[in-house]
Amino acid sequence: MGLLLKSVVPWGRNIEEYRKLFLLSYSDMRKKIAGFGDGPASFNVQASERNADVTSFDPIYCFSKEQLRERINEVRDTIISQMEENAGNYVWCRINSIQELEYIRMSAMDMFLEDYEKGKEEGRYICHSLPDRLPCDDGAFDIGLSSHFLLMYTSLGLDFHIAAISEMLRACKEIRIFPLCDLDSNSSELTEEVIKYFSADYKTEILKTDYEFQRGADKMLRIRKKMKCSSLEEVRENIDRIDDSIIRLIAERTEFVKQAASFKRDTASVKDSYRVEAVIKKVREKAEQYGVSPDITETVYRNMISGLIELEMKEFNSSK
Ligand SMILES: C[S@@+](CC[C@H](N)C(=O)[O-])C[C@H]1O[C@@H](n2cnc3c(N)ncnc32)[C@H](O)[C@@H]1O
Repeated sequence: MGLLLKSVVPWGRNIEEYRKLFLLSYSDMRKKIAGFGDGPASFNVQASERNADVTSFDPIYCFSKEQLRERINEVRDTIISQMEENAGNYVWCRINSIQELEYIRMSAMDMFLEDYEKGKEEGRYICHSLPDRLPCDDGAFDIGLSSHFLLMYTSLGLDFHIAAISEMLRACKEIRIFPLCDLDSNSSELTEEVIKYFSADYKTEILKTDYEFQRGADKMLRIRKKMKCSSLEEVRENIDRIDDSIIRLIAERTEFVKQAASFKRDTASVKDSYRVEAVIKKVREKAEQYGVSPDITETVYRNMISGLIELEMKEFNSSK
């Protein structure tokens, strides 16, 4: 039996929200992206306007623009009054009020509806239900996204989630899922099971994002294929490639450190041991998050920071 319109509760986010909740960088936005369960979000239309390559998959794309508009208007007041009742479950910081929320969501869905027919013709909105096989080759997409769908609808069960994520991983080189909590804002009971299932063949990471609206919903799960090299040469090629990126980033960091000298009043503020310890604490936490040794990370950072403080001191003295 096909999907019934009255079972659909359309609600969509915009590109600013997607970029924050998935930590999508400018270089990510140049990649080929698939959105699963994008529904009436305006991510696709806004990204396409910026020349990004985004394809959205959702079973609601079997309906017409008029049917979706009608359904959005039908459910809008109920969703808003439910959110009003549960206002304490949300962080009213970036979005200040229920009125602002309604405005943001309705604007996103209006943008989606205006683009929907054109996007369908261009193949950007594809009617598809996970875990069915997607109409694309293996690895066709660089990044696959699931916002407020997988891991959140826990009633769909672990088998559904494993099958859906397996199909996403067939089609995408990496996937990102946000948030890691269920509809009641509790930690999703599925996250640990999903990580356990995929971690033999895939690198799984939980990353803190720049987004928290539903209280406690501020993390995403990233799953990528583990890179397996077939020779020592290939391993070294990869290490050389990574060293090149690290050195470029150290050069960029150095430029900012030099600029910092012009804002300091005395040599104590150049050394700023309080700031040094805060940076060390932060990078140790990041190391834990990315699954590398906090001790190795601290040693590397302490050496780099002490060299850069010397440089900043020279910059400071020459400017006096
Ligand atoms: C809460 S909405 C999230 C919409 C959008 N991702 C956002 O964050 O604004 C969940 C979406 O998942 C879609 N969905 C439900 N079952 C699905 C399935 N089996 N495969 C793909 N999408 C599905 C729904 O149609 C709906 O649009």
